[in-house]
Amino acid sequence: MNIAIFASGSGSNAENIIRYFSSSQLYHFYVFCNNPKAFVIERAKRTDTPCYIFPRKDFFNAENTPLLLREKNIDFIVLAGFLQKIPDEILALYPRKIINIHPSLLPKFGGKGMYGHHVHEAVKAAGETRSGITIHYVNEVYDSGTIIFQAQCDITPNDTPDDIAQKVHILEMEHYPKVTEKLLKDLNTL
Ligand code: GAR
Repeated sequence: MNIAIFASGSGSNAENIIRYFSSSQLYHFYVFCNNPKAFVIERAKRTDTPCYIFPRKDFFNAENTPLLLREKNIDFIVLAGFLQKIPDEILALYPRKIINIHPSLLPKFGGKGMYGHHVHEAVKAAGETRSGITIHYVNEVYDSGTIIFQAQCDITPNDTPDDIAQKVHILEMEHYPKVTEKLLKDLNTL
């Protein structure tokens, strides 16, 4: 199976997933990036993963990404810190085959503008006692597709947004590869 990881930033989730599957011959990974300055590009190099970089405005140009997805026979798409909305045309090509990870317990703290540290700052400001991760299918509305998996962590009153980010990061590293693997195996047995 060919899997595209879409990422816009640091790419710790992308690298973690690629490394998790590195001993398997069954899965081939490609990184698609819409930010030429993103550190995920370096991570793709480190892991010998083909990486395609498109400037933001060109990312979903009909002559770019959709064509490349077809050319590379991409079966499944994993969003890992990808900050652009997926257009309907790609959603239609990949029904229940695009997943995202969000660093909060959706439906709380989701939606446009809610990404990365903005989420953890909002969680802290709201005085939440728990946060976590949500892995969900992607649909046409930000962070609102069917939830596949959630994991929680406790927040103490002393935790800063950075502390919350760290706790959430640990959950992401542990669960995103495993949940992805399960979904890929399920697809393989269909
Ligand atoms: C991750 O925490 C991910 O959950 C979040 O961006 C970070 C990307 O980190 N995604 C969102 O906020 C999506 N709304 P990474 O680039 O190191 O994987």
